[in-house]
Amino acid sequence: MRWFTFDSRGDMVIALREAITVALINGILSKGRASWAVSGGSTPKPLFESMQNVSLDWARVQIALVDERWVAPDHPRSNEAFMKASLARGKSSKARFLGMKTPHKTPFDAEEAVNERYGTIVRPFDSIMLGMGLDAHTASLFPDAEGLEKALDPSQDQMCVALKAPKSSVTGDEVDRMSLSAHAIMTAGHVTMMITGEEKRQILEDSLAKGSNAPVGRLAQLKPFDVYYAP
Ligand code: 6PG
Repeated sequence: MRWFTFDSRGDMVIALREAITVALINGILSKGRASWAVSGGSTPKPLFESMQNVSLDWARVQIALVDERWVAPDHPRSNEAFMKASLARGKSSKARFLGMKTPHKTPFDAEEAVNERYGTIVRPFDSIMLGMGLDAHTASLFPDAEGLEKALDPSQDQMCVALKAPKSSVTGDEVDRMSLSAHAIMTAGHVTMMITGEEKRQILEDSLAKGSNAPVGRLAQLKPFDVYYAP
């Protein structure tokens, strides 16, 4: 685990933008294409707005979701809507965007179709941008979720896994989720986590401590990632 701590959120965004840009350019140089998986929520918004101004060969970049709340792509809580609203603008609008939502009723019904769709992405991901909730979930790896053990099983090679989380103030009504698996995250070349605020810093510290069963801590055991933090 590497912690990059900044005095301001603005400085954190600049540093994270540069690190992701380098990973994507390296991917393009080595494979002709690059892939970036992004989380939803609210924290990434300033980073995504900053990425709109980055000059790189975006037409060779595939941007996919780390996870999705199982709602229609035009739903206000849709991560696909958030990704496109914040990245399908400016220079980054030339990228190819890949959502997770399908017409299937549940994410469990959709697993095969979504994994087929994600099979078209150049892999492993050149960069993955994670967030973390106050319940120590990351991606949609929620504590006590149905599907969590499969999602965190490093020996299973499915990229995307369906989960059903216990309803909480963090999940809101969107308890049905699709998420990248630990396998998809572990194999990525560059994994970052963007968190702000002392509360999340403490929750992450506690989750990384020995004996913690928090999903974010269990993932970090499998794939230490770079934490970008500002108060
Ligand atoms: C989601 C996200 C999720 C997010 C955390 C943090 O669907 O909710 O992908 O994993 O990263 O919940 O969200 P905030 O940035 O809004 O705190």
